[in-house]
Amino acid sequence: MTQDLRLAIAAELERTRARTTLLTDAVDEDDLIRQHSPLMSPLVWDLAHIGNQEELWLVRDVGGRDPVRRDIDELYDAFKHARRDRPALPLLNPAEARTYTATVRDKVLDVLDRVRFDPSRRLVDDGFAFGMIVQHEQQHDETMLATHQLRAGTPVLSAPPPPPGREITGEILIKAGKFVMGTDTEPWALDNERPAHAVDVPAFWIDAAPTTNEQYAAFIDAGGYDDPRWWSECGWAYRIRAGLEKPLHWLRDHDGWHCRRFGRVEPVHPHEPVVHVCYHEAEAYAAWAGKRLPTEAEWEKAARHDPATGRSRRYPWGDDPPEARHANLGQRHLGPAPVGAYPDGASPLGVHQLIGDVWEWVSSGFEPYPGFTAFPYREYSEVFFGGDYRVLRGGSFGTDAAACRGTFRNWDHPIRRQIFSGFRCARAA
Ligand SMILES: [Fe+2]
Repeated sequence: MTQDLRLAIAAELERTRARTTLLTDAVDEDDLIRQHSPLMSPLVWDLAHIGNQEELWLVRDVGGRDPVRRDIDELYDAFKHARRDRPALPLLNPAEARTYTATVRDKVLDVLDRVRFDPSRRLVDDGFAFGMIVQHEQQHDETMLATHQLRAGTPVLSAPPPPPGREITGEILIKAGKFVMGTDTEPWALDNERPAHAVDVPAFWIDAAPTTNEQYAAFIDAGGYDDPRWWSECGWAYRIRAGLEKPLHWLRDHDGWHCRRFGRVEPVHPHEPVVHVCYHEAEAYAAWAGKRLPTEAEWEKAARHDPATGRSRRYPWGDDPPEARHANLGQRHLGPAPVGAYPDGASPLGVHQLIGDVWEWVSSGFEPYPGFTAFPYREYSEVFFGGDYRVLRGGSFGTDAAACRGTFRNWDHPIRRQIFSGFRCARAA
C-alpha cells in the first residue's frame, strides 16, 4: 500500500516535471528571461519558484533536511514581489534555475523513499504534501502555458487537434434540493475545498454546454459591447477604461473573426467554447442572453450531484479519474474542443464539458466553506477570501488532471482574461 503510494507519487512528480521541461525548453534563453506581459512572471522565475516551493515543503518540512538555497527564498516568494516587478530581481539564470530544480528533485526522491505516510501527521498522510507540490507545479505549468499564449514570435508548441464536436444545445433542469458540496475524502484536495457540507439549492436551468464563439460573436454583432444595460456598473467602467470590444487574442479580418493561438493565426471555430473573456464580459453576455452566470453551488451541483443515488460524484461522469475520453485536460490539445466532443464526460443529467476546455466563471466570490480551517498555510487560500475575486470552476485544456476535480476551486480578479477562461449561463427555474 505504502509502496504503491510511493510509486504513484514518483510517477506524478516525473510526469509533471516533463511538462515543465517541455514548456521551458521550447524557447531560447532570451525568451525565458524576458517578460512577455506585465501580468506574467518571466518563465525562468516560474521555473525556480517551482523548485523553491518543492524545497520548502518537501526537502525542509517533510524531509527535515538542510536547505539547498535558503538565500533565494525571498526572490521566489510570490507574496514579496508582484509579477510586474520580478524581471528586475537578481534571479537565477536559466542554467542555474535548471540545476537548482534538479538538485531539489534528487533530494525529494530520496525523502520520498524514506518517508512514512504517518496518518497522525496531516502533512504527509496520504502523501498530501507531495500531492500539493504536484498540483503547485501543474498550476505554474498552466500559468506558463498562458505566458506562451502571450509571447510574440514564431510558434514553438504543437499538439494534435481536439476530437470533433456534435450538436449540444439547450438547458438542463436541476431540481431543487440539498446536495453535498466540497469534500472530506479527496486525499489531495486543498483546504478551500473542505469540508463537505450540505447546501440547499433552489431549482435552476443550466446550459448543457459552455457558451461558444458563435454565440459570443452574436453578442458582439448585436452591439453588446456598446450597451451599458448588459453590464454591471464596475463592469461597464472597466469595459470603457480597458477599451474591451472582443475576447483577448481575437482579430477581425475581411472574412470574419480570427484568433491568435500560441503564435498561429487561425479562424475562430464557431462551436468551440469562447475563451479569454473576463468575468465582466461573461456577466454582460449572460444578461444579454436573458440569463445569468451560475452560482458556485449551482455549478458544483450540476457537476457532481447524482439524482439517482443522491450522492456527489468526484467528476460529472463518476468517480474514475479523468481519461482522454472524458475531458480536454492536460495540454493534450492547444485549445478548447468543440461542444459535444466529450459525450463520455457528461453529467448524469446531460451537462457537457464541465471539466476541461475552459475555466468557467461563476457569480460567486471566493469565500470559505462553513467550518473551513487553513491548511497547511494561510497564504494558500485564506488571505484571498473576501477580496474582489470571482471563482472559476472545472479546469481548462491547460489544466492537468492532478489539479482538477469536481470540488476544485480557482479564483481570479474579475478583469483577468489572459487565463483560459470562458463560462456557461444559467437561470432560475
Ligand atoms: Fe506558486
